Amino acid sequence: MSAVLNRLYWDLCGYLRPMLKRVLKFSKILAGNYSKNSMFQSVTAIFMFGSLLCFFVVMGSSYFYMFPSSEKVVETNRSRDGNSISKECNVFDGKWVVDGSYPLYNASDCPFIERGFDCLANGRKDNEYQKWRWKPKNCEIPRFDVGAVLKYLRGKRVVFVGDSLSRTQWESMVCMLMSGVEDKRFVYEANGNEITKQIRHLSVRFETFAFTVEFYRSVFLVQPGPAPKHSPKRVKNVLRLDQMDDLNKEWIDSDILIFNSGHWWTPTKLFELGWYFQNGGRMKLGMPISNGFKIALATWQSWVENEVNPNKTRVFFRTFESSHWSSGSRQNCKVTMQPSLKVKGKQKSSISDAIIKAVNNVSIPVTLLHVTPMGAFRSDAHVGSWSDNPSVPDCSHWCLPGVPDMWNELVFSFLLSQ
Ligand SMILES: *[C@@H]1O[C@H](CO)[C@@H](O)[C@H](O)[C@H]1NC(C)=O
Ligand SMILES: *[C@@H]1O[C@H](CO)[C@@H](O)[C@H](O)[C@H]1NC(C)=O
Ligand SMILES: *[C@@H]1O[C@H](CO)[C@@H](O)[C@H](O)[C@H]1NC(C)=O
Ligand SMILES: *[C@@H]1O[C@H](CO)[C@@H](O)[C@H](O)[C@H]1NC(C)=O
Repeated sequence: MSAVLNRLYWDLCGYLRPMLKRVLKFSKILAGNYSKNSMFQSVTAIFMFGSLLCFFVVMGSSYFYMFPSSEKVVETNRSRDGNSISKECNVFDGKWVVDGSYPLYNASDCPFIERGFDCLANGRKDNEYQKWRWKPKNCEIPRFDVGAVLKYLRGKRVVFVGDSLSRTQWESMVCMLMSGVEDKRFVYEANGNEITKQIRHLSVRFETFAFTVEFYRSVFLVQPGPAPKHSPKRVKNVLRLDQMDDLNKEWIDSDILIFNSGHWWTPTKLFELGWYFQNGGRMKLGMPISNGFKIALATWQSWVENEVNPNKTRVFFRTFESSHWSSGSRQNCKVTMQPSLKVKGKQKSSISDAIIKAVNNVSIPVTLLHVTPMGAFRSDAHVGSWSDNPSVPDCSHWCLPGVPDMWNELVFSFLLSQ
């Protein structure tokens, strides 16, 4: 909280102080010319008074910023009761507001957060980044009601498919749900697996409530394979853009199915490691990544349309999760203390645009989780150097508790408002 005050003071008074200093300097010259001490003193007094006034204005206004009038709090509280979000409201258009009731769980009570995402345990000192809530412009996201969600999920199977950002959302969901389970011994990984970066399937069973929350690692969603014979030397592996990942059979029989893909569709993760595209049985060595991604999404679309039973399975697709590498370099990761006020174009992403197009074109209902704009503000919430490997800074993944909890609050509000 003191950091917020401090920052407000410098933001607002930073403009005034140089001006006042200039007045003071000018007055010194005057005082020298006329040897009139009294005038010099009075201008000094004005400077002091200005600074003091500024200080009080900032303290006063920040008080109202931190503690909005009690009337407002009650109103906010009331409208967050109930479980519906209106169809007219675009929940992805909004801003982050301070909310002291966050975070939703304590990381040390949840064994399913991987060490790399538990920033406080890895030495991060400030915890203000955990105290923000997403506030859509024209409505409220219902308050997370763990009892209602546990009840809703009874007997169901939740499946996340995607890259490590999906694993983060999976960990976040497990921990959010665990906060409502009294005897935590009845929550366990079904195969006794440790959570590791390469593992292809993780399944946490909530025995008392008879449901599972699972994660399948499939960073491209389509099928990887070996390079065909007689390929150029640089080709080590191929991505078969027209075939879903072989794991897809295991995703079909789910009740809630949440996809993502995006962070691996880059030259450094594909071409530079010897991965090239194959489509219709033919190598496509010159195909740009953006085209490859669109073909993969079309493959996903026809898979959803042909394999998923919309009467049983609720499908979501999450858009690109903003990263905050400064000057585009993977070396420059500066995690801020506060969310940024300017999103500097990060609210848009060509990957998200392709996903939105694909999702809107599917013939069965698929819910878009358009997290790109909300993540764009959160330069304060990345893992940074508070990971399990501090020598590799990380401005792509998020600390837990943190931003992915909000993605899950959105999922739950979509599910429970049905
Ligand atoms: C806000 O709502 C929660 C849950 O419904 C309740 O426990 C709390 O007392 C409410 N707070 C106020 C200020 O009304
Ligand atoms: C989380 O739980 C641990 C152990 O129970 C406790 O020491 C710590 O203070 C808690 N943290 C917060 C933020 O409540
Ligand atoms: C879904 O339910 C509707 C109405 O009950 C039914 O007409 C349709 O055949 C069902 N679709 C599938 C794929 O089971
Ligand atoms: C939309 O889907 C149809 C198949 O259902 C496909 O032929 C068409 O190319 C798709 N359009 C876009 C813009 O992806």
